[in-house]
Amino acid sequence: MKAAVYPGSFDPVTYGHIDIIKRSAEIFDELIVSVLDNKNKTPLFSVDERVKMLCEVTKDMPNVKVDSFSGLLTDYCRDLGIHVAIRGLRAITDFEYELQIAQTNKILSHGEFDTVFLTTSLQYSYLSSSAVKEIAMFGGDLSGSVPDLVRDRLLEKYRNH
Ligand code: PNS
Repeated sequence: MKAAVYPGSFDPVTYGHIDIIKRSAEIFDELIVSVLDNKNKTPLFSVDERVKMLCEVTKDMPNVKVDSFSGLLTDYCRDLGIHVAIRGLRAITDFEYELQIAQTNKILSHGEFDTVFLTTSLQYSYLSSSAVKEIAMFGGDLSGSVPDLVRDRLLEKYRNH
């Protein structure tokens, strides 16, 4: 069985991420979407909130599981017995950062670990979680960016901010 991990911050999940999740789930037998619990960042949503939103948006995808991790991605994947990570590439500007992470993971895993890049579908190539948060903060239209349940959580956050 071929399994892969799709790691990320997902703060919050966008249609761009969902596009990558759907397409990866068609390529791999099992996909684990895993939220990084990053102590160096102050996210808008807690890990639990991000996991919950991901569970809701993937509930109709039987071979997709949602999890979270802290520490090194390669250690987490080794414990799961998985050696492939999925990352989405929106534009050439993502490439340098992603290449560096992929190469670091290759070195850290002594060559065991691979990163598979999927290019984000064109209609989502402008999308990012940061842009989505900014749009939400100023009350802009989020309909093409995130599912309604994510939009509602965003609006709730900024109402209480
Ligand atoms: O959605 P993001 O924030 O671009 O995801 C980045 C992520 C989670 C893939 C990356 O930061 C990561 O894997 N962090 C875990 C720590 C790690 O393994 N670092 C070594 C590679 S730089």
